[in-house]
Amino acid sequence: MTQIKIFDTTLRDGEQSPGVNLNQLEKLEIAKQLERLGVDVMEAGFPASSQGDFNAVQQIANTVHSVTVAALARANPKDIDRAWEAIKHAKKPRIHVFIATSPIHMKYKLKKTPEEVINVAVEMVKHAKQKCTDIEWSAEDASRTELPFLAEIIEKVIDAGATVINLPDTVGYTTPKEYGEMFNYIKNNVSNIDKVDLSCHCHDDLGMALANSIAAMQNGATQIEGTINGIGERAGNAALEEIAVALKIREDFYPYSTNMVLKEIKRTSDLVSKFTGMVVPGNKAIVGRNAFAHESGIHQDGVLKHAETYEIITPELVGIQSNNLVLGKHSGRHAFEDKIEQLGFKLSENKLSEAFQAFKQLTDRKKEVTDDDLFVILTDIQTDIQNRKRYKLISFQVQYDSQNLPTATVLLLTPDGKEVKTAQTGQGSVEALYNTIEALIEEEIQLTDFTLSSIGKGKDALAEVHVSMNVDQTPVSGRGTAQDVLEAAANAYLNAINRIFITKKLEKSTIDSNA
Ligand code: KIV
Ligand code: ZN
Repeated sequence: MTQIKIFDTTLRDGEQSPGVNLNQLEKLEIAKQLERLGVDVMEAGFPASSQGDFNAVQQIANTVHSVTVAALARANPKDIDRAWEAIKHAKKPRIHVFIATSPIHMKYKLKKTPEEVINVAVEMVKHAKQKCTDIEWSAEDASRTELPFLAEIIEKVIDAGATVINLPDTVGYTTPKEYGEMFNYIKNNVSNIDKVDLSCHCHDDLGMALANSIAAMQNGATQIEGTINGIGERAGNAALEEIAVALKIREDFYPYSTNMVLKEIKRTSDLVSKFTGMVVPGNKAIVGRNAFAHESGIHQDGVLKHAETYEIITPELVGIQSNNLVLGKHSGRHAFEDKIEQLGFKLSENKLSEAFQAFKQLTDRKKEVTDDDLFVILTDIQTDIQNRKRYKLISFQVQYDSQNLPTATVLLLTPDGKEVKTAQTGQGSVEALYNTIEALIEEEIQLTDFTLSSIGKGKDALAEVHVSMNVDQTPVSGRGTAQDVLEAAANAYLNAINRIFITKKLEKSTIDSNA
């Protein structure tokens, strides 16, 4: 078995998904979970892009120990210095420098000749190497680059000190055969290629990211880059959970293994989905809600007679518990703590008590508390969302009848501790509610998306709302859960607004403490 390194870029390329705006605390929680998942490298962010990203990368670098922490930089000294500043205390730091190498990018985007691009690439790898021993160099748009030029520049950046060479299919254009041939060409035409790890990085514009990654691996790639749930720019990146499970299930065919702890997949996927607000489609491989559901009578009959007739992956393999202990009104603290541990959460004594209290409150309204319900409670408490909210919903009322415009009345607590109240109408109950909240806050809001789903089964399932919006022109998403759909809608709206506030506040506090 050849060992394949898994490079996770959920926090960098994944966070570039439209509308995704993770705050520092959420990024840290995802980073800790990626460590449990067993990725070899995590790209924590792009420190030169914003103060918030810098802070998040720095905090992750100082917290995560067993995984290499990479920071992205364009090929210029300022970006590289900033990346190094953020990760210099990591146990295993890596600077990731990239520059475009395709004719179209060099001519129109960089406005540089191929010789100039080689010079910049070599000089910047040397610059990074003075700070950090582990240097990944990426040829952006490699799949549309002329092969002899690609071989020439790779040889030179390896001589300059690169330890990993990444060849991205930046625009998701390539096919498995072509991409495999590119890796094969580089393996055979770059004299010093055996000194480095060769890496693939695929986007899914034509739905071929997974197949392309596997083709690269079959032609010499020893590192695969991707994201959890396949999130990322446009159609997203290769989904790491799909790669890891495909290699495991078809180990009879693929002689490759990874360090991924497969039973952590479901939890990682849930965490990423909750924090990014990017709902996993029901039919998504490995982590979709229907991935293990057998609907047709023929399939159900087959599975009951012998599971392997239709089931190639067991839900347990990826951490989905089927014979689950369900908690309820009579469950005590002991059972609750066992469950928390089983779900992979580690909370301080104080937070544990806070979580137990929230759980007990929920059991007053709900007979059975599912893992999904607990996941929501625990992630909120772990990231301290409740205590950090800028605006708090104290109470609200919506009047609806089929003859008149709905009217909402909302009482809010503002960040400076003032209670404010007003009423507004709207075409529907949610619009009335949102118009009222908007009238009470300072921020300018433009709602761009709204989705409502249920967590768990039955009439008493929790409602979950995801919203995407622009808050003071910054795109952000928010999520809210509650027993009632309108309360979930209000929570999601305020969650999005508060996330912008928390991000700004965290950025400001780090600037102040660095000043
Ligand atoms: O897709 C891409 O080319 C990238 C690089 C920055 C590695 O994400
Ligand atoms: Zn990318």
